[in-house]
Amino acid sequence: MLADRILGVQRSPFYSIMELAAKRGDCIYLQLGEPDFVTPGHVREAAKRALDEGHTHYGPDRGIPELRELIAEKIRRQYGASYNGQDEILVTAGGQAALHVAVMALANPGDEIIILLPHYPPYVVNAQLAGAKAVFVRLKSEEGFVPNPDDIEKAVTKKTKIIIVLTPNNPTGAVYPRETLRRLLDIAKRHNLVVIADEVYESLVYDGHEHASLLSFPEAKEHVVQVNSFSKTYAMTGLRVGYLAASADKLLQFLKYHHTVNISANVPCQVACIVALKGSQDCVEEMRSAYQKRRDLVVGLLNDIPGVHCDLPKGSFFAFADIRELGIGSLEFVEYLVKEAGVVLTNGSGFDYEGFVRVSYAATPERIEEAMGRMKAAVLRMHSKPSK
Ligand SMILES: Cc1ncc(COP(=O)(O)O)c(C=O)c1O
Repeated sequence: MLADRILGVQRSPFYSIMELAAKRGDCIYLQLGEPDFVTPGHVREAAKRALDEGHTHYGPDRGIPELRELIAEKIRRQYGASYNGQDEILVTAGGQAALHVAVMALANPGDEIIILLPHYPPYVVNAQLAGAKAVFVRLKSEEGFVPNPDDIEKAVTKKTKIIIVLTPNNPTGAVYPRETLRRLLDIAKRHNLVVIADEVYESLVYDGHEHASLLSFPEAKEHVVQVNSFSKTYAMTGLRVGYLAASADKLLQFLKYHHTVNISANVPCQVACIVALKGSQDCVEEMRSAYQKRRDLVVGLLNDIPGVHCDLPKGSFFAFADIRELGIGSLEFVEYLVKEAGVVLTNGSGFDYEGFVRVSYAATPERIEEAMGRMKAAVLRMHSKPSK
């Protein structure tokens, strides 16, 4: 009765881990991909006010014009790129919808989409839904999970249509240097490809490093489609607002898909995004600097666990810890930690990258300390247990 296209999508092991955690109770959840901070007060107030003021009907399909202008202005200010709010910005139901719209509108069945491993799993699902083939290029932990453009170019065939680039990265926390992005864009130009630049973590970069955006290159209009979001920057994942920045001709086609699925993005929440962009950006900086402290804390504590190694990530709110020395599969390890320690992490195999686990540090320092203490004790018990 159901379509092959959806039956072919695998159910993530995440759900069974969550069931296991719920059964145990008393768990510390460090698997979340969302900020634990409360959405800033002025943003919440703006959404409430928008409801009271009657912004409760369909909005313009491309997004509220003032919001699109503010997004274009932000892109100009941050990345020196000239995007027109009128026809080069499309406001979507989160970055997730932006990604889906872009893939569905760009990829033909049979096209190849280059996806870097470890990956954000929806990239693969989107490729599947479009009938395209995901072609994986494995990144190396010893190179800090930064792509080697030569490896990527080797994966390009006549069928390649898209390369998906995610910086700052989920799950690795890597931040790609500008020079790497330059070379990736050169590959896209040489082979006439589109780069989908997922930059939803753009505001979360640490130690004075800067996020380099693919939009900042002059050729971006032709070859880059940016996926972006308000979710992580303003801790407003539940309000579901994201956007696409692309050339007007591409965007006009994206609009057909977006309109069919959503008509418009959530209107009161778009009003809240206007206030978020117009207001003080102190809240963004406060969250960023809190994450940086948490990152230092979690990485220090991870490295204190025998058999676990973790490099200091430069961005996002994830640490990707190497557990290969423990001699256990990542899913098995995550299940063990839930049962033995009540700590919930994400298995690297879920990102098609065995031997690692993702630790989200979008949690309070107290919870992080408690979780790492429990994890260390569980690992020590694991070592002391006689092997079967
Ligand atoms: C890499 C990446 N892209 C896109 C998204 C989608 O975020 P949202 O739809 O909340 O904007 C996420 C969410 O976790 C993500 O991690």
